Amino acid sequence: MNIHNSINKGKDITVTIDGKICKSTFGKTILDIARENDIYIPTMCYLTKVQPIASCRMCIVNVEGVDGVILSCQEKATDGAVVNTQNDELNKERQNIMKLYNVNHPLECGVCDKSGECDLQNKTIEFGLEEQGFTARDQHRPVENWGHVSYDPALCIMCEKCVRVSTEITGDEALKVKFGGYGSTIVNTKQDKNYASLGEAAAVCPVGALVSTDFKYTSNAWELSKIPSACPHCGGGCQMTYEVKNERIYRISNDFEFSNLCGAGRYAFNYANENVSKDKEAFSKAVEAFENADSLIFSSQISNEEALILQKLKEKKGFKLISHEARAYQKFMQSYSSITGKSLYNGTLKSLSDSRAVIVMGSKINDDSPVVKYHINMASKWHSARVVYMHPLEDSEIQNIVTQFIKYEAGSEEGVSALLADTLLKDVELPTEIRSFLNDLDIGNLSAECNIGEEELETLRKSLIKKSGFSLIVGSDLYAHPRAEQIAKLVALLEEYAGFNVICIPPAGNAMGISLICDLDDEAEGKTVGYNASADFTLSALGNSDLDMPAMNQQEGTLTTLDKRVVPMNVALPYAGYVLNDIANTLGLNAEYTIDYTKALPLDKGFEAVEFDSLPDYFDTVGNENRGYLLKTQNVSLEREIEEVAEIDGFDGAVIYNCNPTNQFSAFTAKSKLLKDEALLLGSQQFATATKLKDGENIRYILDGVIFDRVFKIDTSMKGTIALNPTFDMGLSGALLSSYRFSRLDFERAGK
Ligand code: SF4
Ligand code: SF4
Ligand code: FES
Repeated sequence: MNIHNSINKGKDITVTIDGKICKSTFGKTILDIARENDIYIPTMCYLTKVQPIASCRMCIVNVEGVDGVILSCQEKATDGAVVNTQNDELNKERQNIMKLYNVNHPLECGVCDKSGECDLQNKTIEFGLEEQGFTARDQHRPVENWGHVSYDPALCIMCEKCVRVSTEITGDEALKVKFGGYGSTIVNTKQDKNYASLGEAAAVCPVGALVSTDFKYTSNAWELSKIPSACPHCGGGCQMTYEVKNERIYRISNDFEFSNLCGAGRYAFNYANENVSKDKEAFSKAVEAFENADSLIFSSQISNEEALILQKLKEKKGFKLISHEARAYQKFMQSYSSITGKSLYNGTLKSLSDSRAVIVMGSKINDDSPVVKYHINMASKWHSARVVYMHPLEDSEIQNIVTQFIKYEAGSEEGVSALLADTLLKDVELPTEIRSFLNDLDIGNLSAECNIGEEELETLRKSLIKKSGFSLIVGSDLYAHPRAEQIAKLVALLEEYAGFNVICIPPAGNAMGISLICDLDDEAEGKTVGYNASADFTLSALGNSDLDMPAMNQQEGTLTTLDKRVVPMNVALPYAGYVLNDIANTLGLNAEYTIDYTKALPLDKGFEAVEFDSLPDYFDTVGNENRGYLLKTQNVSLEREIEEVAEIDGFDGAVIYNCNPTNQFSAFTAKSKLLKDEALLLGSQQFATATKLKDGENIRYILDGVIFDRVFKIDTSMKGTIALNPTFDMGLSGALLSSYRFSRLDFERAGK
C-alpha cells in the first residue's frame, strides 16, 4: 500500500456510477462500490474472497477523464469519480472476450455437469453470442482424475480462481498454473496427497472444468433441492447447503464467494440414521431410563435446543449432566473470563485473517480446526503475517505458513503459557499482583522444564515489535490439562493486557453451545443414560442402540460457532423415529417442536429470544454475514488471582496424542463414504524403537476406560516419541474420553 492510500483509507467518498450517487469509503474498488449499490458489472475471474485476479477483463468500465478502459475489480475508486459501466463499446469488448473464451471451450453443455449453473453458459447467452467467428485447432487434453476432484483441461478457461483458493484460502498450495499460450493448463502438484480441500477449488470453478469426482454425471444441477444449513462436524459451524433429490444428499455446496468448507464439511454428509420408524416399546424403555437415571452422558454432536432440553430435564429430574469435552471447555472459559471480565473471548475469524502476527498454542491446528487454519493462511498470504506455531509436534502440513516453530514438552503447557505471558507483557503496564506474579517466575527453570530456549522467546518478542494486529489461537490440548484453569488465566492476560485477539477453539461439535447452555457435572454416577455416548441405556443417531435418534442432518436447530454466532441448521433428510423432544414431553416438558426452544436459549449467556423461523441465513451481495445472530458478550465478575506455576509433570518415553486425521472429527465423519481414513496408531521410527513396536503390530491400550485395539504403523515423516492416536472411529465410546490429550502409552501386544 502506498502512503497516499494508507492515509486516505476509510475516508468517506462519493462516486457516481451509471448516474447513481454512491457513498462509500476510500480503499474499495469500483466493483465493490457498484455491488454495494446493486449495480451490475459482469465479471468472469472475480472471486470476492481472494485478492483480485484481474485476468478476464470482463469488468471493464469507463471513468470520466481517464483514457481507455479500467478494470473495476482492481481499481480503487477515488472521490468524485464518474463511472460508466454500460455502453456499446464496453459491451462489444465484453462480447469479444466471451468469443475468445468460447474458442477453446466446446459448448457441449448437454453432457456437462455444470450446465444450468455455468458462468460461461450464462454469459454466452447474456451477451447474445449466437455464432462463433473465431476458430482454433482443437488439442487432445484428456480428463485428469485427482481423487476427490477431476480436472478437464478442455473446459478450463484459465480464470485461476481454483489456484487462488488453493493458495490464499485452504493453503494446500497444490494447484498451479502451467503457462503455455493456448496450451496453458492447471496442474496439481500434490496429487499423491489427494487433498479433500481441493473440493473448495472445485466449488469456485465457474465452468465444468474442476468438479467433484463423486458428483460427476449423477444429477443435473437444476434437479437438486438446495437446503441451507451449517456444518456440525467441528466448532466452525461453516455455512453449507445440502443438495438433495429423492431423499438422498448428492453433494454439499456453499456460498463460495464469501465462505469456505473443509473436506469434512464438503464430503462427510452420508451419516444420516436411515430407515428408522417409531419403536413404541423402545420409546417407553427410554422414558423409564430417563426417569431412573442418575446421570446423562452426551457427546458434543447435539444442537443448542437439545442441550437446553437436557438442561431442563436435569432441573426437573435432578440427574447429573456429563459432556466431558464441553465441561472441560466450560471450566476453561469460566477461568478465562475471570481475568477479562467478559463471558466470551474477543477474537473472530475476521480479526484472525486481518492479523499481522498469529501465535498458535495447544492445538494441532491443521487437523483440529480447518476453518481456523484457513484464516491463519489468509493472514499469512494477504498480510505476510508472522505465524508462530507452538506445539510438541512439528506439522509438515503447515510449514508453508509457519515462520517460527517453538517445540515444547508435552505436559508443560502451564509453563509455556507463563513464559508467553512473561515474554509478551514485558513492556506493558500491569496491575501490581500480575506484575509481581510475572516477576516471581523462575524463567530459567521454566524454559528448561518446557524445553523452550530463552532465545526462542526473545526472537518471538522481537519479531512482534513492529507489528500490530495480533491473534492468539489456543485449542484442545489445554482444556483437559490438569492445570487448565490456571492456563486459561495466563492466556487471558494476553487478551486483557497485550491487545491480542484470542480464539479458544471449542474442542468438538457444539461444545461451545453446550458449555453455555448446560450446567454440567464432572463425573457420572449410578444409572446412566447416554445420548450418542455409551451408557446403561443408549440413545444414538449412529443406529444400533436402545433408541434411535436423528443425525444432525435430519434435524432443525441451531449451533453455536467458534465465531460466537448462533446459526440455523435445517433438515436435509427425513426422519420418522422419535426425537429427544418426544421424551422430554412425556417427562413433563411441553414443546411441540424442538425448535420451540430456540427462543428460550439463555439470555444471560448471550443468546437472543428469537424464533427459529426468523433466523436469517445468507450473505449479502458484499459478503456481510447474516446467518443467525452473534452471541452478546456478557460482563462477568473479575477474580484476578493467579496461582504459582505448578511443578511440571512431563512425560518420559513413549507418549500418545489423541488426534484425528485431517477431515475426521467424530463417529459421524467416520461414516462418510467419501473420506476413507484408517484409524491407525501412527508413530515415528524413533517411537517404534522406544516402544519396541514393529510396523503392522496389533496392540491394545486403555484410555479413560475405553479400549483401543490398534495397528501400529511407522510414519517416516514423523519425528520424536509421540504417536498419533485417532479417536474418530470409536463410535459411542468416543464421548467417554475425558483426559488430557497426551498420555503415556501403556500397551499390551495382541494375544497376550
Ligand atoms: S479449473 Fe476452473 S477455476 Fe480453475 S482455472 Fe480452470 S476454469 Fe478457472
Ligand atoms: S468440519 Fe469444521 S471447518 Fe470443516 S466445514 Fe465443518 S465446521 Fe467448517
Ligand atoms: S473481473 Fe476484473 S479482470 Fe476479471
